[in-house]
Amino acid sequence: MTDSAKKSGKLWGGRFSEATAASVEAFTESISYDWRLYHHDIKGSKAHARMLAKQGLITGSEAEAIVQGLTEIEREIENNTFVFRPELEDIHMNIEQALTERIGAAGEKLHTARSRNDQVALDIRLYLRDQGTELDTLLADVQKAFTRQARTCLGAIMPGYTHMQRAQPVLLSHHLLAYVEMFGRDRERMQDCVKRINIMPLGSAALAGTGLPVDREFVARELGFSAVTANSMDTTADRDFALEFLFCLTTIQLHLSRMSEELVLWSSKEFEFIQIGDRYCTGSSIMPQKKNPDIPELIRGKAGRVAGALVALLMTVKGLPLTYNRDLQEDKEQIFDALDTVKASLSITAELLANSKFNTDRMKKACYGGFMTATDIADYLVKKNMPFRKAHGVVGTIVALCQKRDIELEELTLQELQQFSDLVEADIFDVLSVEGSVDSRTSAGGTAGVRVTEALERAEQQLGIA
Ligand code: ARG
Repeated sequence: MTDSAKKSGKLWGGRFSEATAASVEAFTESISYDWRLYHHDIKGSKAHARMLAKQGLITGSEAEAIVQGLTEIEREIENNTFVFRPELEDIHMNIEQALTERIGAAGEKLHTARSRNDQVALDIRLYLRDQGTELDTLLADVQKAFTRQARTCLGAIMPGYTHMQRAQPVLLSHHLLAYVEMFGRDRERMQDCVKRINIMPLGSAALAGTGLPVDREFVARELGFSAVTANSMDTTADRDFALEFLFCLTTIQLHLSRMSEELVLWSSKEFEFIQIGDRYCTGSSIMPQKKNPDIPELIRGKAGRVAGALVALLMTVKGLPLTYNRDLQEDKEQIFDALDTVKASLSITAELLANSKFNTDRMKKACYGGFMTATDIADYLVKKNMPFRKAHGVVGTIVALCQKRDIELEELTLQELQQFSDLVEADIFDVLSVEGSVDSRTSAGGTAGVRVTEALERAEQQLGIA
């Protein structure tokens, strides 16, 4: 270190004549949260050091000392014996400084042909790539929990809703498998996002690239990236991949919040469609009778927090000139918080579902009293060649009559039904029952037992569950 660098105590201290104000250190530090990147920072630095040696920019033994030193530092961090120093700002400088203190001069060569601007981009990309894999597993676990319940409840009928009004009867398993589809899309979206994350930024240096003879492709191969980024300015300025990742997280949490809303409703006395295990509910400090669905409520509530992280980073990036600006340091807390929230929500969801029981009798009972087979009568008339609009009108008048007499559609006699249309024959009673209605919906992706069984088998096969 030069004298002035010593004065400021910083790796960048050469041009400074005064030590940094304590308030500035406190305001600008990120080590209190970006320490979480340590593993990926070290992994990236090791690949970088190997490349420097291969290119003759450092010697083989210097590279070895660097790799060895970094391995020891990683072990210390993992054993909680490493001391993070806020005055060294961030994870990159904490590790580099510790390395130099440990191995001496070779440590000072690690940052050759590298800037923290491309280094931090590398670290986040490596970190998010791994997180993508973890999320995929958690999403698959939730899909499995839904699929298992769909298997257990196969055959159970419940009201399907539109506008939160009873609409048409459906199989409970069909409803549950809808969530398997949603989380399946979440997995695909995340995998697609990881394709764009998996591009190697190192070698872009501060913003303009480097004049030193680096081999970017080598680093990409070492770290399992599919390509190197194409423009050094774009690379150091870009956080699109983080935005996209946060969008993926937000969509997952929104899906979880829709599920949660249903769990909250369904566990109410008004519905009583589901019983969440006692271990997964909480009580009230004043009302002794209460059993509250706090888990789904919290998951629902946390959707605001995850969407907030996305919006926060969107606004951070908005209007930023090229290339790196310190504003970009704000990406990490949003990423970490959103990840923690979504991962915790997914894992508790899988547990909660496995520990819940659907009240299929209650669901079946709820299928009566809403004229839910009205569309089936209209379809019946259509099959007998009545135009659909006309059939819609006819059935509307039938429903009105039932409402007036306070009876169900299937309580009407054949003669009464025939007064509405001479197309009506005795076989109309096949479609008036909720079972008949469900079974008739055989269109691809429909709720008929045959279709749902196929969908269930497909899900079980894809998820590898027997
Ligand atoms: N801690 C910084 C961040 O997270 C690392 C990059 C700092 N670069 C710089 N030129 N100050 O963005």
